[in-house]
Amino acid sequence: MLKYLKEYNWPDMRRMIENGRLPPDTCDERLDGKLCVVTGATSGVGLEAVKSLHGAGADILMINRDERKSEAVADSLRRAGPGSVDYLIADLSSLARVREAIGGLVRLERPVDVLINNAGVHMTRLVLTPDGLETTFAVNHMASFMITLAMLPVMSRRGAGRILQVNSQGHRFFGLDLGDIDWRRRPFSGLRAYGAAKTAQLLCCREFADRLRGTGVTVNAMHPGAVKTGIGENNGRLYRWYNHHVVWKGLGDPSISGTALHYLAAARELEGVSGAYFNLTREEKPAPHALDRELGKRVWELSLRLSGMEG
Ligand SMILES: NC(=O)c1ccc[n+]([C@@H]2O[C@H](COP(=O)([O-])OP(=O)(O)OC[C@H]3O[C@@H](n4cnc5c(N)ncnc54)[C@H](OP(=O)(O)O)[C@@H]3O)[C@@H](O)[C@H]2O)c1
Repeated sequence: MLKYLKEYNWPDMRRMIENGRLPPDTCDERLDGKLCVVTGATSGVGLEAVKSLHGAGADILMINRDERKSEAVADSLRRAGPGSVDYLIADLSSLARVREAIGGLVRLERPVDVLINNAGVHMTRLVLTPDGLETTFAVNHMASFMITLAMLPVMSRRGAGRILQVNSQGHRFFGLDLGDIDWRRRPFSGLRAYGAAKTAQLLCCREFADRLRGTGVTVNAMHPGAVKTGIGENNGRLYRWYNHHVVWKGLGDPSISGTALHYLAAARELEGVSGAYFNLTREEKPAPHALDRELGKRVWELSLRLSGMEG
């Protein structure tokens, strides 16, 4: 803990707090005829993102795990505006289901203009996926890593597009221990696991940006604000009580996340900006451990190996 407190530069932390109080920049850029793919769009940040993008004219393809919720979201979007709305069903904690979703994406007969990897969880208990991965790492990092990796050649061939990784200020929680990503050697900490997954995603965002340089496709990460959503609602009663009676009182409306994602997906002033981290729409310096390129290369290799894909 002390090790991580020591690494912080207080002026950067002050800027982070100030940025967190600012509303997101807005954008009136239309997205008619553009296809936006969003993972985890049944609630919270993802739902606000699809509402905002579809409201700007975009066609939407969601990747969700729940058919009934997906149909309800699709139905309400279709009533609200003309853009098409479709969905793929995939439980993103399973590498096999992520591969199936990727199959659906690469077979699309039209280009993807915007890819938003948003699906995420916060777990207070250690739950290993059927692949033996800690669930937070699997959903928040591995799924976004695999989907982005698969879309690199597809989007690069077209020479345009934006990829956004919904990350978190939670990446600042203590870094990640690559020697124990499945928590077999340490007592589990949900906050640390969340921070580890977000750190892995942020480090790989820089690696993706390097690989995309010169292609016309950009990749950036963002913190969607501290907003009232369903995150953590899968945890126990005590946690949910604390969430509802304490945490939620200090949180903002998730519509700011949708506004910010529309801005990052469409604003002309961000053309060519890649490899950056935004607090809503303000570019910000990530925690020092998330800027460690050597660690980034090791996370990349590990993620590649776990994914069974070619880099
Ligand atoms: N809320 C905040 O203050 C905050 C702050 C920083 C970062 N974030 C990030 O924002 C992103 C969205 O979270 P949220 O706050 O909007 O939470 P949320 O309301 O719980 O939404 C999470 C979304 O991810 C989906 N999801 C979860 N596990 C999945 C799985 N195994 N397979 C497929 N989809 C899955 C959920 O689907 P179901 O509806 O089926 O559960 C839901 O659509 C996450 O990456 C989170 O880390 C949130």
